[in-house]
Amino acid sequence: MSSFWSIWVWVLTLGSLVAYVFLLRWCLKNFTGVKEGESMGHSFDGIEELNNPLPKWWSTFFLLTIIWAFGYIALYGLGGWSGLLGWKSSNQGILNIAESKAKTIENLAKDSGVLVQYDREVAQANEKYGPIFEAYAARTIEDLSTDSEALKVGQRLFIQNCAQCHGSDAHGTTGFPNLADKDWLYGGTPEKIKETIMHGRKASGMAAWSNVLGGESGVKEVAAYVISLSGRSVNPDLAKAGKEKFALCASCHGPDGQGSLALGLPMGAPNLSDNIWLYGGSQRAIEESIRNGRAGVMPPWKDILGEQKVHVISAYVYSLSQD
Ligand code: HEC
Ligand code: HEC
Repeated sequence: MSSFWSIWVWVLTLGSLVAYVFLLRWCLKNFTGVKEGESMGHSFDGIEELNNPLPKWWSTFFLLTIIWAFGYIALYGLGGWSGLLGWKSSNQGILNIAESKAKTIENLAKDSGVLVQYDREVAQANEKYGPIFEAYAARTIEDLSTDSEALKVGQRLFIQNCAQCHGSDAHGTTGFPNLADKDWLYGGTPEKIKETIMHGRKASGMAAWSNVLGGESGVKEVAAYVISLSGRSVNPDLAKAGKEKFALCASCHGPDGQGSLALGLPMGAPNLSDNIWLYGGSQRAIEESIRNGRAGVMPPWKDILGEQKVHVISAYVYSLSQD
């Protein structure tokens, strides 16, 4: 600390402490002209204000805290002075991250106690669970999906990493698909599920269609047709006009709206005829999807969890849609 700031701290701190002493003395003086214990002449709803001094216990404690402050400064220092005990945060054995990592590695090598709790726990967990995940990785996802111990592990990993988006029961919510049904955007085979989790998915191509469809009326017509695909009743004239325009959509959603998966395309265009909706099935939500487009993103987990853990989560996800 430069001497300017050191002096600054000294002046402010000692100045305040001295000011407190004077403040206390001033408050203990009786300068009202009224004798102690007598009325000040104010009455509020029959409650009279008396000229009472500050309670003795209170003013004594106040004084003690001030004395305490001087003692504390003497021991622990102020500004650039480190006090009679010579205490500094930097001489308390606190390491920076690089130092503590180096120390951890050194201690691990010596196989002695390790300093950093996180590193120690990770190392212990890897040692303990590594062989379990290795054994799981050697088995197929189908096989694991019937092993209740493996599923428990998968479920825990799912709750830690996936539940914030897909829900703790994997039933999803608006914009986040249900993983426990048989309706898939990218495929429900063990291989496809693992591929999705490892590398993530980015829904491609659901652009905003409002302009191309000629504005709101076009959006309403196509929406009516889309709604009719899952057997709901709609205005037949609107739906008829929408059906013609649906040719624009067929390259991704299929000629009958059966979805890109049914066409063998990995682009995530949902089946529009099954009355299962990623973004909501109300007329309003469907119009919104068409008017402004949608672009869901599933993050990749390869680098965060590693393949072995993804393998076990895949088995858990796969198991959810098997009866
Ligand atoms: C940040 C939110 C988020 C997290 C966290 C997340 N996902 Fe997803 N996931 C999504 C979205 C959004 C989609 C849909 C992508 C789309 O719209 O095309 C998706 C899609 C999927 C799919 C494909 C579903 C289908 O119908 O094909 C699977 C499987 C999946 N997620 C599993 C997981 C697992 C397992 C985890 C945890 C390791 C996880 N997700 C974590 C957002 C998330
Ligand atoms: C280039 C491919 C592509 C075209 C063309 C396309 N879509 Fe989509 N559509 C998608 C994708 C991909 C999604 C999923 C977006 C996501 O997961 O975020 C989607 C989602 C939707 C949804 C939401 C479904 C749900 O379950 O909530 C509706 C409704 C929809 N599209 C209707 C249409 C209509 C109507 C057209 C024609 C005007 C159209 N789409 C054209 C790719 C396409």
